[in-house]
Amino acid sequence: MAFPPQFLEELRTRLALSDVVGKRMRLIRAGREYKAPCPFHHEKTPSFYVNDQKGFFHCFGCGAHGDIIGFVMRHDNLAFPEAVEALAGEAGLPVPRATEEDKQRYERRKTLHDLVEQAARWFEQQLYAPVGRAGLEYFQRRGLDPEIMARFRLGFAPGDSGALRQHLLKLNFAEEDMVTAGLLKRPDDGRTPFSFFRNRVIFPVTDRRGRVVAFGGRILEGDGPKYVNTSDTPLFQKGTLLYGLSRARQAAADGKPVIVAEGYMDVIALVRAGFEGAVAPLGTALTETQVQELWKLIPDAEKVPFLCFDGDNAGRRAAWRAVERILPHLAPGHSARVAFLPEGEDPDSLIRLQGARAMQALLDDAIPLSEAVWRMETEGKPTDTPESKAAVKAALEARVGQIADRDVQIFYRTEMRRRVDEAFAPPPRQRPGRAPWQPGQWVGGRPGQPPRRHVPGTPGLRTGPQPGHKRRNPAHLPHARERVLLAVMINHPDLFDELGESLGMLPFADPALDDLRRAVIETLSGNAKNDSGLDAASLCRHLSLAGHDTIVGSLLSESTYVHAGFARPDASALEAKRGWWPTWRHLHHRQVMADLREAEAALARDNSEANFARVVALQQEVIRSGMGMTDDEDLDDA
Ligand code: UTP
Ligand code: MN
Repeated sequence: MAFPPQFLEELRTRLALSDVVGKRMRLIRAGREYKAPCPFHHEKTPSFYVNDQKGFFHCFGCGAHGDIIGFVMRHDNLAFPEAVEALAGEAGLPVPRATEEDKQRYERRKTLHDLVEQAARWFEQQLYAPVGRAGLEYFQRRGLDPEIMARFRLGFAPGDSGALRQHLLKLNFAEEDMVTAGLLKRPDDGRTPFSFFRNRVIFPVTDRRGRVVAFGGRILEGDGPKYVNTSDTPLFQKGTLLYGLSRARQAAADGKPVIVAEGYMDVIALVRAGFEGAVAPLGTALTETQVQELWKLIPDAEKVPFLCFDGDNAGRRAAWRAVERILPHLAPGHSARVAFLPEGEDPDSLIRLQGARAMQALLDDAIPLSEAVWRMETEGKPTDTPESKAAVKAALEARVGQIADRDVQIFYRTEMRRRVDEAFAPPPRQRPGRAPWQPGQWVGGRPGQPPRRHVPGTPGLRTGPQPGHKRRNPAHLPHARERVLLAVMINHPDLFDELGESLGMLPFADPALDDLRRAVIETLSGNAKNDSGLDAASLCRHLSLAGHDTIVGSLLSESTYVHAGFARPDASALEAKRGWWPTWRHLHHRQVMADLREAEAALARDNSEANFARVVALQQEVIRSGMGMTDDEDLDDA
């Protein structure tokens, strides 16, 4: 819903940013501003500043910034309208409703919220009344103490199918609303509506803001479905909510792991054992919306939710279904880990039998999603013939093809091909007269000169001073990196299958080099269909004919190779690849940073939700794209 601009203005004038921030974290006065350790990235020394005059916060560490609404959106993990509503509450301002109809809908929702809240109170009272004794004993048998029962507001629905209705009528609620909220069921023959939950222990379900919106009820013994749940109502859509969501959001903000279990009792057991980030879907398989919700919970792009599944076949099938559903939506910072429970256990029973440490060990062993994709397509599949190997490879390619994010797709493809190669390929053939490259081996020397020591693990472009060479002008380094990537590609055209896509998505800053980049891609991709492939010499001939001979000549020279031995024509394919990725990542990181600066400028011009979302997404991508860069690569050459 759109809010009148003057209302947003009013909010910003009524509330001091430092008060709103100060309610949520401790602020230290620093002259006319306030500072604190940044809530949006991990740090020990404060670089997060709040300026009331400007109405902006800014983190000099991670670049997070925004105004009062932006802060609440990010800190409380709320969408724009929700943040505005929360702030209106803090300011004591009524939220203006645009039309009479909106107003009615708002009032009606408010009534339903009150109604459901009163029902929750009633269920809770029944648990401790004589009529609820069986329910209380049930929870006690399952090891719950009074504190945890109170915390989850557990309750009991007695067998009397008119009692709740009577109680709520006395509080002046309308019978129709009780039906709408899913508390009563109206019989088909039009007789008086009766209680939906009868003779069951009750688990209230709260929404993202902690308000009760629905219930789950578990049978104590006897026949009937083990659990019944409120069906969808104006307050509750089961596929979009998670049990325990609002508490898990707080826990995630505090850095605790987000864990998805299967059931109500699992969530309660996990929270009792200290895993406060526990949630569960509500009687359905995990939906895509719920997964998106999980990602929104976690402020730290490097942390991902844990999905817990049974160790048996059904659990594995459920896990693969979840992986299938998540795969298309993977993005930097949007992933998951999968944890498998021992056969026959759920988190509740595991914690009861073996304690919180066993649960922690299980999380420590959780597999990344890429591993899950691999297992899903290889476990139990025949791979003993060339055809079956090819089938597995094709299935993996198809899976990877579902990933929408280009970057993530590229890295997944590389990873799956590496796994396929490792699992299926014969040991690599050696080039005649050349020993296979080993990490830490002496490489890259010119004939007659002492070879240079190759530092294992950091095969990227060396930016530090080299003996016998003047330190390059740092301003030329990005172009030097671009030259190195082109040299690798031209000297190793057979690597185009693997590296070409990454080259394609990285525009170069130097226009002449960018022209050449396009020409190289065009020539090599045009050639991909004939499997003879171009060798380096014929590729150079092609490029010369296309008018690039001068630049190719200067590129394939000692001035390029001296800092990047892996770009030399005689470097092995493995060396070339090992050198490629750090260099590529560095340039890619620069590009994302540039995008971020642009998005921040746009946000400064127009503080819209879309611009804000783009900045947040790019901030995450910056962190992501900077991950795995060694200190050496990280030397800032800007
Ligand atoms: P489980 O059958 O695994 O039960 O259902 P549980 O959570 O371990 O419960 P306890 O330990 O036996 O009490 C997992 C979840 O699936 C939904 C509920 O949300 C439940 O918590 N469910 C299960 C239903 O909605 N209906 C059912 O009949 C069964
Ligand atoms: Mn259970």
